[in-house]
Amino acid sequence: MSTRFKRTLITSALPYANGPVHIGHLAGVYVPSDIYARYLRLKGEEVLFIGGSDEHGIPITLKARAEGVTPQYIVDRYHELIKKSFEAFGITFDIYSRTTSEVHRKVASDFFRTLYDKGEFTEQESEQYYDEEAKQFLADRYIVGTCPHCGNEKAYGDQCERCGTSLSPSELIQPRSTLSGSQPVKRKTKHWYLPLDKHEPWLREWILEEHKEWKINVYGQCKSWLDQGLQPRAVSRDLDWGVPVPVEGAEGKVLYVWFDAPIGYISNTKELLPDTWEKWWKEEDTKLVHFIGKDNIVFHCIVFPAMLKAEGSYILPENVPANEFLNLEGDKISTSNNWAVWLHEYLEEFPGKQDVLRYALTANAPETKDNDFTWKDFQAHNNNELVAVLGNFVNRAMVLTRNYFDNKVPSLGELTEYDRETIAEVEKVKQAVEHNLDHYRFREAQKEAMNLARIGNKYLADTEPWKTSKSDMERTATILNIALQVTANLSIVMEPFLPFTSGKIRSFLKAERFDWNVLGSFDLLPEGHALGEASLLFEKIEDDVIEQQVQKLHDTKKNNEAGKQKAEPVKENVAFDAFEKLDIRVGTVLECEKVPKTDKLLRFLLDDGLQKRTILSGIAQWYPNPSELIGKQVCFIANLEPRKMRGILSEGMILSAENSDGSLALIFPSEDVLPGSPVV
Ligand code: 2FM
Ligand code: ZN
Repeated sequence: MSTRFKRTLITSALPYANGPVHIGHLAGVYVPSDIYARYLRLKGEEVLFIGGSDEHGIPITLKARAEGVTPQYIVDRYHELIKKSFEAFGITFDIYSRTTSEVHRKVASDFFRTLYDKGEFTEQESEQYYDEEAKQFLADRYIVGTCPHCGNEKAYGDQCERCGTSLSPSELIQPRSTLSGSQPVKRKTKHWYLPLDKHEPWLREWILEEHKEWKINVYGQCKSWLDQGLQPRAVSRDLDWGVPVPVEGAEGKVLYVWFDAPIGYISNTKELLPDTWEKWWKEEDTKLVHFIGKDNIVFHCIVFPAMLKAEGSYILPENVPANEFLNLEGDKISTSNNWAVWLHEYLEEFPGKQDVLRYALTANAPETKDNDFTWKDFQAHNNNELVAVLGNFVNRAMVLTRNYFDNKVPSLGELTEYDRETIAEVEKVKQAVEHNLDHYRFREAQKEAMNLARIGNKYLADTEPWKTSKSDMERTATILNIALQVTANLSIVMEPFLPFTSGKIRSFLKAERFDWNVLGSFDLLPEGHALGEASLLFEKIEDDVIEQQVQKLHDTKKNNEAGKQKAEPVKENVAFDAFEKLDIRVGTVLECEKVPKTDKLLRFLLDDGLQKRTILSGIAQWYPNPSELIGKQVCFIANLEPRKMRGILSEGMILSAENSDGSLALIFPSEDVLPGSPVV
């Protein structure tokens, strides 16, 4: 760390809590920021790594409407799911909170108020579409109409999805409100604007002159925005979902999601460190680094800095190492088309292989241009690098030591010229990895780290300890001592990239975590040190596994194209009496809670009209607050063979509907009925 800074504050973009997270999120933002945070921590630096969910904005309200639930319900569901996925991938946030937290509401509200009181906003009236039936102003996505370019009758107020043209609502022919279907009218409304034009001169100087070292894609995008001339930006919206604008006469208005979201970084810091958060945001010796995707560049390099500057007491980011996009099998990742590898699905389908995905994504990170993730490539990184190089080397070092030296670190004898050369090469790895990490080049850094395993493999292949063991045990001891020291070094250098693997190597070596500073040393394991049990670090991934994944993607796409709302093909017909054999009933929920030590299971106690009955249901991730289900009525199959799970007898099955993203929603009767009523 250069002498100017004493600590590093790392933020990673707050994902929208309107869907699960996918590999594009991981590759672009969360793996690189986690590598960086882990690296600095290993170096003993003072680091804070902030994450959280972005829970406001129109996409969330739209999703809620589509499902007939509240926005809060949607964000509760996805916040939990996203948080769990990040934890499972070893993303070491110091806090992962959310923009619907009380702390955030207050911090964002106060921030707005400070700028308002300082006269940092301008107020403007404009005419916007208003739905007189729904009594609500309509955000762009709430208006549909005919596209003036291609005649598509279902173009949105911001874009026609058929011809791809960007639109404004007033361009639509025969606009209709998606809320009521009525024709909206134009109504005057007042909003607050951040006058970016006023901030342009210092932004030009700060970015274009003082931050020439920013990544070329980031610098280039900023320059292009600045060269076009900045315009005032509205920071409020007419909407009922968000942080209310804290000004008299602003009823029915909330802060624009892009105003409140980056303040989420501040609120989450304050939530974690209520007494010392200011040190991280207001002292010049803090280095602030934002990890984001390229679509967020303008907000993090121009809008948020202008907000911070206008407030007056905050530092500005030192760097914004934004990534480009990751495509998938040649196509753009798309949440709405389900063209994605969802992290929660990967975790189920590849249990224990988090590091494999971390590795493949970093090896192929879209650092300077958009990149493509293919399953074939994923397989190749696993089989040819993780298995054949890293796994193979560590395994050989461990097995040979167990076979020849009773699983104890043998002593280092006289070194040959070749040993010295190998040691010198190992010593160089530290600097190469550091140099790349310090410049946010994670792909290159991981390559250099992997190089250490290559050096080790080559060393064993060249020195052939299995041969020397026949004639010269002293020489064999030296070779294996060196190989084990390289293994210990691997546990250090791999920690930021492959944290689970690094932990396993340490357990093989029965070693505590080493500091980054000792990377390159050859005295990490003392002679005679007893090693632990080793196992294979990685396993080969076979072709059929990969083919299945590719097939799954294409199947999903086909289903999507067949009818947007992918429906499964109808199953074979059954006779009516077969249906009648199923006893489906309604029960009232008396108790509902998570089954301890499981991720998925909820335990329901139902009043089934005759008695109390226990049923387990694998829907916990979709119902983060199970007690809210108490008193509701659910449908269940009453005559399903009882089944024991986790030591609990489950007497039936509760019925849920499965969305195309795999999320589950319980089925409720439209009106209360007597418990035990049959579903007919
Ligand atoms: O693009 C996105 O997914 C936004 N939710 C990122 C917000 S980053 C920050 F400002 F919170
Ligand atoms: Zn069109």
